[in-house]
Amino acid sequence: MQEIRIAVAGFGTVGQGVYKHLLQNRALLQQRLGIRFAVHGIAVRNLRRKRSVKVPRSLLTQDWKSLVEDPRVNIVVELFGGCGEARKLILAALRKGKSVVTANKALLAEHGEEIFEATARYRAKIYFEASVAGGVPIIKALREGLIVNRFQHIYGILNGTCNYILSKMSHGGVSFEDALKDAQKGGYAEANPAFDIDGIDAAHKVAILASLSNGFLMPFSKVYIEGIRSITPLDIQFAHQLGYEIKLLGIIRNENGLSARVHPVLIPRSHILAAVDGVYNAIVVRGDVVGDAMFYGRGAGADATASAVIADISEAGLDRLYSTEMRPLLGAKPAQTKIKSIDEVVSRYYLRLSVVDRPGVLAAIASVLARKKIGISSVIQPEGHEGKAVPLILMIHDAKYRDMRRALQGIMRLPSVRGRPMLLRVEDLS
Ligand code: NDP
Ligand code: HSE
Repeated sequence: MQEIRIAVAGFGTVGQGVYKHLLQNRALLQQRLGIRFAVHGIAVRNLRRKRSVKVPRSLLTQDWKSLVEDPRVNIVVELFGGCGEARKLILAALRKGKSVVTANKALLAEHGEEIFEATARYRAKIYFEASVAGGVPIIKALREGLIVNRFQHIYGILNGTCNYILSKMSHGGVSFEDALKDAQKGGYAEANPAFDIDGIDAAHKVAILASLSNGFLMPFSKVYIEGIRSITPLDIQFAHQLGYEIKLLGIIRNENGLSARVHPVLIPRSHILAAVDGVYNAIVVRGDVVGDAMFYGRGAGADATASAVIADISEAGLDRLYSTEMRPLLGAKPAQTKIKSIDEVVSRYYLRLSVVDRPGVLAAIASVLARKKIGISSVIQPEGHEGKAVPLILMIHDAKYRDMRRALQGIMRLPSVRGRPMLLRVEDLS
């Protein structure tokens, strides 16, 4: 039986999950792979922190450099997170020719060029299944199972924390703040949860998926990002009244250029993604050969993420054992792709305004929209009191975002329109 030694960097939510399941399913892995994985050491910041998974004290160290550079270590599993020490650690491991397994989407999306360049320079491999959608094997699906396809679109729920918050709010009775606290307790949220709720984490994942599915490195700065911070129970209530659910989606669309974006979307309650609740993620893929395919599973948390990390450890172990050659991450010949600005993207919209209830308000708003050739498809205005502010909900026909944005600026200048507007996209997911 071949032994492969692993250094684990980080013993937080994911690190503990990986350690626990490597131990628990050791015999299964040995039987399936013919490899015995041995954890050589675990790097942490704080040696005294109480952990929920028991580990021999002798395995823990604060000195990640010595651990990573130890010649007995074959695979380095980076689970620190962030772009600081994690970046240095991964580069140090690659430089030494170790295989690297990481769940760090932020680092790959923002420093992918440097990391991938280092893998080529040192002929060392990196594996990152857990970086997108937790336990759902979407990276292996794109790189292997769907390799013959050109992708018309890839869209889905890519952040477990936001989906958890939105589904709790949608089912009623739980505030945004309480739902976020629960998601943090479950180990789903990033160390800084602003990355989740501001859409940045989902955008990191979109950048990775767009790169793999299009064969070039998608610059993170080109991913359009809106989070869920401003969504109120009122919007969820109106969305329901109109037959929709609100979800944070990552969307990659190839239609006269590539658009890559993350924003809340109103989706029909009958759509399959509307039923994806809690920490679950789901990704819908349309390939020119396979047609439609969908991937579903837990998108965050210790166990689901450990499943993906251990899949990578297994692949890395087999690659080392059988000396599998490097294969290019983005294809042998990177593609040239035009990236569309969000201003060019066409969608329908949900617009919630706060207006003073007086004659002529709706006509004034409709005329601003008409000047940009934008039509209204339906209107909800709860009965109010003349002269008092009331919500006005408009469902708006297809329009380019540039036109919609400019029209909204015009609407906000009208004297009867008060407060902050809420503009959400209604995406055509057919
Ligand atoms: P945690 O914050 O729970 O754990 C981070 C661990 O890394 C801690 O053990 C911490 O040590 C250690 N660490 C961080 N920086 C250093 C450093 N400079 N030196 C030594 N130790 C350090 O994070 P998660 O486990 O939740 O996430 C890890 C990675 O996995 C991130 O990239 C995240 O985005 C990704 N990920 C997370 C998922 C999840 O569901 N949580 C799902 C998919 C991916 P100490 O404990 O001593 O503070
Ligand atoms: N914070 C992330 C989420 C972890 O909630 O989806 C999984 O990548």
